[in-house]
Amino acid sequence: MTRQNTPYKVVDLFAGPGGLAEGFSSILDDTGQRAFDIVMSVEKEASAHRTLRLRAFTRQFNHGELPEAYYDLLRGRIDLAELAEMYADEWQAAEREAILATLGSEEGDQLVYDRLDELLETGAGDTGRQFIVIGGPPCQAYSLIGRARNAGRKDYDPETDDRHFLYREYISILSKLQPAAFVMENVKGMLSSSVGKQRIFEKIMVDLERPGRIGHEYLLLALAPAESDLLNAEPNLKPRDFIVRAEEFGIPQARHRVFIVGVRKDLIEETTERLTQTFLRHQGERRTTQDVIANLPALRSGLSRGDAPEAWSEAVRAGARKIIAALQSSDCRLHQNITEAARNLCEDAAKLEVRQRKSTLSELPPSNDELERFLRDPRLSFTINHESRGHMADDLTRYLFCAIFARVTDGQSPRARDFPAELAPAHSNWTSGKFADRFKVQVEGRPSTTVTSHISKDGHYYIHPDPEQCRSLTVREAARLQTFPDNDLFQLLAHFRGDARETS
Ligand SMILES: C[S@@+](CC[C@H](N)C(=O)[O-])C[C@H]1O[C@@H](n2cnc3c(N)ncnc32)[C@H](O)[C@@H]1O
Repeated sequence: MTRQNTPYKVVDLFAGPGGLAEGFSSILDDTGQRAFDIVMSVEKEASAHRTLRLRAFTRQFNHGELPEAYYDLLRGRIDLAELAEMYADEWQAAEREAILATLGSEEGDQLVYDRLDELLETGAGDTGRQFIVIGGPPCQAYSLIGRARNAGRKDYDPETDDRHFLYREYISILSKLQPAAFVMENVKGMLSSSVGKQRIFEKIMVDLERPGRIGHEYLLLALAPAESDLLNAEPNLKPRDFIVRAEEFGIPQARHRVFIVGVRKDLIEETTERLTQTFLRHQGERRTTQDVIANLPALRSGLSRGDAPEAWSEAVRAGARKIIAALQSSDCRLHQNITEAARNLCEDAAKLEVRQRKSTLSELPPSNDELERFLRDPRLSFTINHESRGHMADDLTRYLFCAIFARVTDGQSPRARDFPAELAPAHSNWTSGKFADRFKVQVEGRPSTTVTSHISKDGHYYIHPDPEQCRSLTVREAARLQTFPDNDLFQLLAHFRGDARETS
C-alpha cells in the first residue's frame, strides 16, 4: 500500500517526558508508518529532557524495529554513551529533535527559533501546513493549588507572574510556524483564572484565534463537549466543554485537562478529516488500575531504616498487630473485617513472602487486549523502572490499613476520620478535614487518580492496592496508568530513587 499523506511534522512545546508526543507518534497510517513525525520537542528540566532524547532516539527506527542494543541499554548491559556511539547518526538526530531549553529565556529562545528556522527552510512556500504544534504552557500559575498558595503571598501580583504569560511563547511559535493545527493542553484552573478583571481563558481563546494577530485564522474546537460530537466547534461552547476526562476514553487514570484544538481555517476539511481518525477513538470505554498494574511483578516495599526481607515482613506483621489492637474496642462490622484480614496476614506464613524490591524479569502471557498490546513490547522480557521505595515503619502500618480498608469496602480509600486514633500521623490538624485524603489507595476496580510529576514526594497518595505488597506505586506502575509504553525508559531524578525519609 502506498502512503496517501506525508506525515505531519509535530513540534512539542513544554514537552515534559513526552507523553503527548508519545500518543501522536504511536499512530500509524494505513501503510503501517507513523502518521505524525515528531521533529522537535522543547523541555527545560534536565531529567525529563534525557527521557525525551532517548525516546527521540527510538523514533529514528521504524515501529517494532528497535536495535537489540536498545534492549541491552534497558538491561543495563551497555550505557547511553555506548549506545550513542554505536548509532551515531540516530543519536545525533535525537539530539537535534529534543532540545533542552527554557522557553522565554534569551538563550533558550535563540536555540528554539534557530531550529524552527532550519525546519522551515527545508520546504518551500506554505511550509506551515505540514506542521502541528502540541503542548501546553506550564500550569502552576493557573492551577487551583498554585492560586491558593499565591493568594497567601502579600507580594504576589498576577500581572507580573511570568508563568501566566508563558503561553505567549506558545502563541509566538504558532504565529511563526502557522501550523495546520495545534493542540493546547492545560489544567482546569485555567478556565477560572483571571488577571486583573479579565478571565485568562477568554484572553487565550482570542489570542489563539489569530496567533500574533498576523497570518492565518484558526477555528477552535473542543474534543469532547458535553452535548455534541467530537471535534465540535459550536459557537456557544462553554469553557467546561473543553475539558477532556481521560477515564471516559479508555485510560485507567482520572485526569481532567483542558484541550483546545485549533485548525487553520483554510485547511479545515483535510485537517479535521485526518485528525478525527486519530483523536478519542475509545469514547465510553472504562479501564481500571487493576487492568494495567495487576500483571506486573509483585514487589515488597523497603524499610527506610534497617531494610532486609525478614525485617520488612516482621515490620508489616507488627503493623498488622497494631491495627488489630487499635480496632479492638470497636464492634463495627467494617472493623471486624479489617481485623480479620490483618490477622490473616499475621498468621498465614505464606503471606508477605514477596522478597524482591526491584524486578527486571517478567514473562507476560500474550494478550489480545488493545491497551495491553499498546503498552507492551513483545521483545521486552523484563520490566524497567519497576523498583519499590523504602518507607518508615509507621507509614507501612498506615499503608497496610489503607489497602485492607479498600479491599473490605470494595474500593474505598479511607479518609482521615476512618483511621483509628493510634494510627494517625503526628499532625496537629489531622482531624481538621484539611488532610482528609492524606493517604490514598489506588483502588483496584477504578481508574487511578491523576498521576502527577511529583509522585515521588507524594507516596502516601499512590498506595498500591495489594496489602501484601504494602507499598507505594513504582515508576512503571505510574507510567502504565498514564499509558506510557513499557519500553519507554524514564531517566529519573536522583531523589526519586531515594528512600522516603520524611513522613506525615
Ligand atoms: C505538564 S508538563 C508537560 C507534560 C507533557 N505535555 C506530557 O504529555 O508528558 C510541563 C513541562 O513544561 C516544562 N517547562 C516549564 N516551563 C518551561 C519553559 N519556560 N521552557 C521549557 N519547558 C518548560 C516543565 O519542566 C514540565 O516538564
